[in-house]
Amino acid sequence: MIRVSKIAHATYETPDLDKQTEYYTEILGLTVAARDKDTVYLASTVDHHSVVLKRGASAQCTRLGFQIAQDGDLDAFEKQVAGHGAKTERKKDPDPSISEVVSFSDPKGTTIEVFKREAFSHQKFGKKGIVPHKLGHVAFHVKDVKKVTKFYCDVLGFRESDWMADFFSFLRCGPDHHTINLMETGSDRHFHTAFELRDWGHMHEACDLLSLNGYKLLWGPGRHGIGHNLFAYHRGPNGLIVETFAELDRMNEELGYFEPRPWHRDNPQRPKVWEKDPSASNLWGVMSGDEMMK
Ligand SMILES: [Fe+2]
Repeated sequence: MIRVSKIAHATYETPDLDKQTEYYTEILGLTVAARDKDTVYLASTVDHHSVVLKRGASAQCTRLGFQIAQDGDLDAFEKQVAGHGAKTERKKDPDPSISEVVSFSDPKGTTIEVFKREAFSHQKFGKKGIVPHKLGHVAFHVKDVKKVTKFYCDVLGFRESDWMADFFSFLRCGPDHHTINLMETGSDRHFHTAFELRDWGHMHEACDLLSLNGYKLLWGPGRHGIGHNLFAYHRGPNGLIVETFAELDRMNEELGYFEPRPWHRDNPQRPKVWEKDPSASNLWGVMSGDEMMK
């Protein structure tokens, strides 16, 4: 099968486009790569854009972009998707720097755009704000976690990294422990969008920068059990939750276990089903409050 190998971008509708753009540039430290009246393309590095903001009635994540390998076969990928009963659409020049996408909907209604990165934009990291390495993962509330998980694995080639009991899946499409995570809660909607930072020092700077600009943490800093990443969550101006993280587990696909780390409890640490236990959420002990679930 043809597998996607990277999350490339996430697209959000947002009512106050200017305010959200200011947050993404001044606080998160992404760069405006292109914009028109109703759309802003935000970059973190070599890719033309990692985040797309579109003017819309309510704040929501509407689309996810994934890359297949540079020498991958987009025609064969489209056949693979159609073979699973999904209705596909082919679009030429849908966004700057992307010449062709295969577009379809996942079972929870998010548009998926799969493409080949034919050229890099050679952008440099910005110098103000948090400046993450990259868009790391997007997490969703879902009505049917088994159905959506199966779709991502069978149609897009994701692998299951871990589960929390039978209601929360963590799926990878490359070495990072998770790129998509899905929590069954009774509704289909965005849960959080996560950006990767360098290390603990960068997390520390980010938390201070957020605080100095009036953004209070909802949860963290802490260390998740599942994925073992350092985490801190806050809410952006449009109300959607953003996570900054570092030290996420990385899979050695040939050997079938995550790169060894001193904070692991299993040696080696392999994909598994975790019990619904506080340490699966935060090894450092502090649980999330109701705010995280709103
Ligand atoms: Fe996360």
